[in-house]
Amino acid sequence: MFPLKSNLLFLVSIIFFACQPPKTETVTPPDIHSFSNPNEARVTHLHWKAAVDFDKKIINAVAAWDIQPSTSASHIIFDTKKLTIEKVVLDDKEDTTYKLEKDIPIFGQSLTIDIKPSTKKVTLYYQTSPDAEAIQWLSPQQTADKKFPFLFTQSEAILARSWIPCQDSPGIRFTYDADVTVPHDLLALMSASNPQVLNEKGEYHFEMKQSIPSYLLALVVGRVSFKAISERSGIYAEPSMTDTAAWEFADLEKMIKGAEDLYGAYAWDRYDVIVLPPSFPFGGMENPRLTFATPTILAGDRSLTSLIAHELAHSWSGNLVTNSNWNDFWLNEGFTVYFETRIMEKLYGRDYAEMLASLNLQDLKDEIKSLTDDGHAADTKLKLDLTGRNPDDGVTEVAYNKGYFFLRSIEEQYGRDKFDAFLKYYFSKHAFTVMNTDGFIQSIKEFYQSDYKIALDDSMFKAWIFSEGLPQTCPKPASVLFDKVDVAIADWKTSQKLNAEVIKNWSTHEWLHFLKNLPDTLTPQQLQALDKLGNFTSSHNAEILTQWLVLAIRFNYEKAYPKLEEFLIHTGRRKFLSPLYNELIKTEKGKELARSIYGKARPNYHFVATNTFDALLK
Ligand code: BES
Ligand code: ZN
Repeated sequence: MFPLKSNLLFLVSIIFFACQPPKTETVTPPDIHSFSNPNEARVTHLHWKAAVDFDKKIINAVAAWDIQPSTSASHIIFDTKKLTIEKVVLDDKEDTTYKLEKDIPIFGQSLTIDIKPSTKKVTLYYQTSPDAEAIQWLSPQQTADKKFPFLFTQSEAILARSWIPCQDSPGIRFTYDADVTVPHDLLALMSASNPQVLNEKGEYHFEMKQSIPSYLLALVVGRVSFKAISERSGIYAEPSMTDTAAWEFADLEKMIKGAEDLYGAYAWDRYDVIVLPPSFPFGGMENPRLTFATPTILAGDRSLTSLIAHELAHSWSGNLVTNSNWNDFWLNEGFTVYFETRIMEKLYGRDYAEMLASLNLQDLKDEIKSLTDDGHAADTKLKLDLTGRNPDDGVTEVAYNKGYFFLRSIEEQYGRDKFDAFLKYYFSKHAFTVMNTDGFIQSIKEFYQSDYKIALDDSMFKAWIFSEGLPQTCPKPASVLFDKVDVAIADWKTSQKLNAEVIKNWSTHEWLHFLKNLPDTLTPQQLQALDKLGNFTSSHNAEILTQWLVLAIRFNYEKAYPKLEEFLIHTGRRKFLSPLYNELIKTEKGKELARSIYGKARPNYHFVATNTFDALLK
C-alpha cells in the first residue's frame, strides 16, 4: 500500500459507503499510483486553456475541472509533478485554500484543495516546469526538417501529472476540451478533434467528447503537414516525411475496417497517426484519435506496420476498456497484442501473423529468463504488484506476450468463434469503463458458462495469471516461412553459406528470425562474411539493425561501431536502446564505450529513456 494513501481513509470510506443508501456512483478501489480521492470527489470534464512558450520551455495554463463531490466532500485531491500552482478558484467565483505536499520520488506531489459538497468546478492556474517529465522540447536540429522547434508529450503511465494537474489514475475518466496557443508557424494537435492546416494566429480548439483516463491526454506542437488516407484517417508528419509515411501506412483504412469486422465499430470518430521525431521513446502510443508513432517504423517496405495495428487495436483494448490500475497492465497490452495479431492475420494471412507470434514468443522467453535471473521472477506473473514502484517496471514482454499467449490458449482450447464472440461482448459491455483482472476472470467465466455451458477452470487462470514463468500449455506458433529460415541456418552452420535464391525474397521478419537464431558463438570474421551477405550494418530497418548491432557488440565486430554510435545518438526508442546498452555493459570496455556514447546521446532522449539509462549506466 502506498504510504500517503492511508488505509484508514479507505476503510472509513468503505464504511461510509456501506452505511449509505445505495447510490449509483461506483466506488473505486484506491490506485497505489495516484494520490487522488475519487470516492470523495472526482473529475468529470476538463477545460484546458494553455499557452506554449518555446523560449522558456514552459506551458502557462488554466485547468478548469468540472467535478462531482460526494455529499460530505471537503477536499478534492489532484496529482501534480513539478507544477507551479498560482491560485485555485471554485465555481468561477472564490479563491480557495489548498495544500501542496512534499515531492515523493516517482509519484510527485499531492495537491489537496478545499471544496464544499456543492462545488461544481475547480479552476487551477499553473505553470509547468522546463523539465516536466511528460514533455520533450526539441530544438529544430532534433527534428527531421531541422527548421522549427517541436514538442510532444508522453503521459502514460503516470506522467500526465507533470503537465496537467489531474486525478492521474486510469480508473478515472473525463471528457475534455482545450484552447491552446502556440507560435503562429506551428500546428498543435491533441488526443481529440484536430486541425489539418496551420492557423495564422496559432490558436487551436480541441474537443474530446468521449471520456478518457488521464494517461491518454496528449499534445504535439510542431511544423507538421497532413495527408489523408481515407475519409476518416490520415497521416501527420514533418513535411519532408508526409508522403513517405502516407505510403508506408497506405493500408490504414483496411486495418480500421478489419478491426471493426472483428470486434465492433470504431468508437472514436477519426483515426489519424502522427510520425514524431526519432527521440520519441516508444514505438507507438495509443492517444485517442491520434496515434503517436516513431519514425523507426518507416522501413520503406511496409514491413513494420503491425505497430500501427497495435495502436489502433488499443482503441478497443485500453482506450474503451481500460486497466483499472497499473497492476492490471496486461489487460491493456495482452489484449492489444492479441487483437493486433488478428488484424495482421486478417490483412496479410496466417503465416504472416505466425511469424509475428513466433518472434514474440522468443522475446518473451528471453525476458522471462532475464527477469528470473535478475531476481524479479515475481514480475513474470501477469497480475503485478507494483506497490511503491514505478509503473514503468511493469512494461515488459510479460504483459504483452504472456498476455497474448494466454488469450490465444483460450482461443485454441475452445475455438476461435467462441473467443471472438466473447471479445465482441466484452468490448461492448464494458465500453468506457475500467476492468481489473478479477473482473475479467468473472466476465469470461460467466460468458462461457451462460453461452456455451463451458466451465472455465480456475487452475487455468492460476497458471497463467497468478504464477511465474510460462505454462507448459503455451501455444506454439508455426510458420512455414520460418521453418525455411531454420533450414537455411542449419545449412549456414555447416557450409557458412546462404543460398542467394533462398534469401533474396526474405522479409524483415525472416531476417530477424535468422539473426536471432544464429549460433551462440561467432567470430568477427564470420560476422564480416554475414555482413557482406545481408548488408546489415547499413540497414535502414531499425529492427534488423538493432538485432545486428547486438551481435556486433557481442562478437567484437568493430566495423559496425561507428554505426552503433550514430544510431544510439539519433534514436530515442527505448526498445532499441535497451538491448544495445545492455549488451555493451557486459564487458568493462563496452561499459566505457556505453558511457561515452550516452554522454553525447542523452540530450536527445526523452525523460522516459533517460530515467531508464541513468539507472543502468550510473
Ligand atoms: N501503450 C504502449 C506504450 C506505453 C506503455 C507507454 C506503457 C508507457 C507505458 C503502446 O501501445 C505500446 O505498447 N507500444 C509498443 C508497440 C509495440 C508493442 C507494437 C512500443 O512502443 O514498442
Ligand atoms: Zn500497447
